[in-house]
Amino acid sequence: MTTQLIKVRGLMENFDDFVRAGNLLKNGEVVAIPTETVYGLAASAFSPDAVEKIFKAKGRPQDNPLIVHISDFDDLAKITEEVPETAVRLAENFWPGPLTMILKKNEKIPHEVTAGLSTVAVRFPSHKYARAVIEAAGVPLAAPSANLSGKPSPTSAQHVMRDLAGKIPMIIDGGECEVGLESTVIDLTGEKPMLLRPGAVTLSQLCRVLGEVLVNPKISEEVDDGEKVASPGMKYKHYSPEAPVVIIEGDAEDFVRYVIANAAEKKAAVLCFDEEKELFSNTGINAVSYGSKEDPQSLAHGLFAALRTLDEMSLDIIYAREPDLSDGMEQAVVNRLGRAAAFNRISV
Ligand code: TXA
Ligand code: MG
Repeated sequence: MTTQLIKVRGLMENFDDFVRAGNLLKNGEVVAIPTETVYGLAASAFSPDAVEKIFKAKGRPQDNPLIVHISDFDDLAKITEEVPETAVRLAENFWPGPLTMILKKNEKIPHEVTAGLSTVAVRFPSHKYARAVIEAAGVPLAAPSANLSGKPSPTSAQHVMRDLAGKIPMIIDGGECEVGLESTVIDLTGEKPMLLRPGAVTLSQLCRVLGEVLVNPKISEEVDDGEKVASPGMKYKHYSPEAPVVIIEGDAEDFVRYVIANAAEKKAAVLCFDEEKELFSNTGINAVSYGSKEDPQSLAHGLFAALRTLDEMSLDIIYAREPDLSDGMEQAVVNRLGRAAAFNRISV
């Protein structure tokens, strides 16, 4: 299969391409689309056969459910058993945007989408091209991140090309994703709301709207083999380069000293803050920076692209830096990098 890469200049300029994307989706095909978080691989959420193609293209484990994307708040009631008042308030504050809500599904959503669960994850993205494709398809779209399973989520159409070229018919290229990390996931089916995945809608923002929000402990620790988890995605080693990643805690000088002392005779590289990059300039050690220490949004935006760059260097080890935890976007960055490193941290 040849993969068509559609470079979008605007909704009007590329009107015909959006119609074509919609038709592919109506006919049970998959299309990769940009969203404000990461690129998604979309298919009709009402078609088990189309959804099956997503799992096949990504090599995704069958027991990992998909997020359903809508382009109108009213569509939420059409695919769920009930829309609790908490969902209405969250939607008023954060939709369209990078927030996914877990609710009880109704019979319109096939089991293939939810991997047999009685709940469904739903998101109303803000990206105008994502919304245009959903509208052109005329159905809600199931869409996981458009990477090969186990690779970092794609934040550009080139990342999608690298993972899925030849496996899918079309990629809508909307440039780089603004946020760079996947949406916040909150479960609204329990007695109290529970955060399952941190993202650009932060825990403190959620608490401001809902009052108390529980935090699933698996956001910050490894899942044991066979352990039962609230969100199947937690079990899988996502976001992970080939080489082991170790997070180094300490100030910049101690970090450089540690790396130089330990990198000898290894193919080592560093994933660091912009502010630290030049400290490695005469060391012979490759340093890839992913954003400014002072700007967590820049770190979120750059993390996955940097992990992909490192992945292409065939390394023995990656020494990484993470921001200090706070109540903002840092939580999502620490979560994704933590998972890439299997939560392996060394204090120096
Ligand atoms: O930003 C995003 O959310 C992107 C874009 C494309 O929208 N999508 C995305 O999808 O990150 P994916 O499949 O890579 O991650 C979905 C996560 C997985 O960890 C999955 O296990 C969890 O959401 N999930 C989906 N349905 C669920 C459910 N019913 N209950 C609990 N967790 C669920
Ligand atoms: Mg994913």
